[in-house]
Order: sequence, then C-alpha cells, then structure tokens
Amino acid sequence: MKGLILSGGRGTRLRPITYTSAKQLLPVANKPILFYGIEALAASGIREIGIVVGDTKHEIMEAVSDGGRFGVSVTYIEQEAPLGLAHAVLVSERFIGRERFVVYLGDNLVREPLAPLVRAFQEMEPNCQILLARVPNPQQFGVAELKDGKVVRLVEKPSKPPSNLALVGVYMFDHHVFDAVKAIKPSWRGELEITDAIQWLIERGLTVRPHVIEGWWKDTGKLEDILEANRIILDTLEPRVEGELEASEIHGKVVIEAGAKIVQSVVRGPAIIGKGAMIENAYIGPFTAIGDQVVIRGSEVEHSIILEGSSITDVGGRIESSLVGRNVTIYRSEAKPRSYNLMLGDRSQVGLI
Ligand code: G1P
Repeated sequence: MKGLILSGGRGTRLRPITYTSAKQLLPVANKPILFYGIEALAASGIREIGIVVGDTKHEIMEAVSDGGRFGVSVTYIEQEAPLGLAHAVLVSERFIGRERFVVYLGDNLVREPLAPLVRAFQEMEPNCQILLARVPNPQQFGVAELKDGKVVRLVEKPSKPPSNLALVGVYMFDHHVFDAVKAIKPSWRGELEITDAIQWLIERGLTVRPHVIEGWWKDTGKLEDILEANRIILDTLEPRVEGELEASEIHGKVVIEAGAKIVQSVVRGPAIIGKGAMIENAYIGPFTAIGDQVVIRGSEVEHSIILEGSSITDVGGRIESSLVGRNVTIYRSEAKPRSYNLMLGDRSQVGLI
C-alpha cells in the first residue's frame, strides 16, 4: 500500500494567513495539520508516501523533507494548478503504479485510527473504500446515499442532500480509479471531483465499500474549523511542564515546552505554550496554543492560536477566538492622539471593542 497526501490547495478561505503560509502547515496544538496525516498513514504501516504539492511546495518540502523523521519515505508530486482532487490523483499515477493506495486530504484531521480500515481494505479487496461521517451541514461536502449498507450514489455539495453522510477526506483505491479520473469531466467549479470519480466506479459496477466513522473528523478549511480542531486536540494532550514557572498558577491540561517562561501569570488548560515563549503578567485561557518564541505580556488570550514569533503586549480586552500569524506585533501605545495604529495585510479581520 502507498499513501497519497493532497496538499496542492490554496486555502482561500483562510486568507490572509494563507497568502504567506500553506494552509496544511497551519499548526493545531502547535503541530502542522499535515503532520497528523503523515503520522496517521505511518501508523497504519504505510512507508511510501507521495505528497501532491502546488504553489506552496517549497514550504511543504522544507517542513516535511524526505519524511525520515516520520519513518516514511516521501516523494513530491507537482500539480501545476489546483484542478481538483481527482486531478491530483491523475498526476500521481506514475508514483502509485498498480498498488492499492490511501488518499488523505492534507487539511483533514481524523481521530479514528486508520490501521484497521487499511487492513479491511486489503483483506476484503473492494475497488474503493470511503469513510463517511454524519454532519449537520452536508451541503458543504460530498454526500453519500446508502441503501442496505451499499453506496448507491455520491453527489458533491448538493443543495438538497440525500443524507447527512459526508465524505471524509480519506479514500482508498485500487488502480481502477485511474480509469475514472481520466473519464470524468470538470464540475461547475471547474475541478475534477474525486466524488465524481467514485460515482463513475459505482456506475461501472465496481465495489465501493463505505465505512461510517464514529469519532470526530475535521476539514480545516475555515477559521472556526481550525479553532475547533485546536480545541479537540489540545484536550487530548498529556500535561507536561518543561519550561520555567515563576509565581504563576497552572490549572488543567497544560503543556509548557522547554525554554518557555511563565512569570506572574495564570495558564488554564487545555493549552500549550511553545518553546522559548515568554508569558508575563498574563492570563492564558482554555483552548489556546501559543507558538514558539511568542511573547504575551500584560494581556489575556483565550481560545486562540498565536503563531511563532508574535508578541501581544498590554492589550486591554481579552483576545478570544483569534488566529494570529507569524511575527505579528499587537501592543498598546500611550502616544497621543489616542488612536488605533494598524498595519494589516490584505483580507485581515479585526474586531474592536
Ligand atoms: C473535498 C471533497 C468533498 C469532501 C471534503 C472533505 O471538498 O470535494 O467531497 O467531503 O473534501 O474534506 P473541498 O475541501 O474541496 O471543498
């Protein structure tokens, strides 16, 4: 079995962060989302992984390198434009050859271990295996219609969903999928849809085995999804304090990495404080991930992700439900006239009180 991680997307719904950073490298609990996918494939025994990359290929290659530290060997496959998930599969044909393979969307997070599903796929030998999850908003996903436990139809982002079973971003295929991705036509959004490729397999009488997952699953396309994924993963961390504490209180599940300093502050978990971070006279509330080398002084931060190298100083109100990029400076200025001084990138969002 081989693995294929699709990381060619541009992450338009996460601008401005994704103007300067690949969405798959945004950290959840201080670890890039993409790494969770690589680890899940590695844990299910897959050793050869292809990563399909687009505009952000250099950044992804720098972060993942040859895959050695995950115990896998990584091959990079270029997709010249984000023309759809089925297109990404099409450009990977040479890498996959005749082997069975798992496709994992680089922005998805799945709690359920993949190993038993990979094993079932190898033992039962269907042509394709899909993972489904019940969701409250099926219109935003590919949706499956099942009859007597069999998949009868799949539709991409239907306005009238036939069920609440969404296609999770993890698929397993044999070589027949290459016939499908060559046969289908682009959808209304101009993409070759993997959903249409699987529908093609169903129509040709090939076997598509569904598996409904019970644990959580997140497609981290939007800010709210990233914050929710951060919440869920932080809650699973084992508490650990490797940094220094001085006149501070720590409650609940908190990870404080080496070199971090917490001075006269309160940290209420679940939370993680990255390497070399400085938290002084501050409050860090639940569901917060503070990146490496971040400085929080005289301020309160809760339910947020602050990326490495940023600093937040003497902010009056509490910063909440926020995603702050790398090397951002937020501070209170005493200079007159009292005014807001902003330097924001395109499509930034600022909620003032
Ligand atoms: C893609 C697929 C969709 C699937 C989803 C899972 O959607 O097209 O069928 O349910 O991933 O994350 P997209 O992220 O391209 O909107």
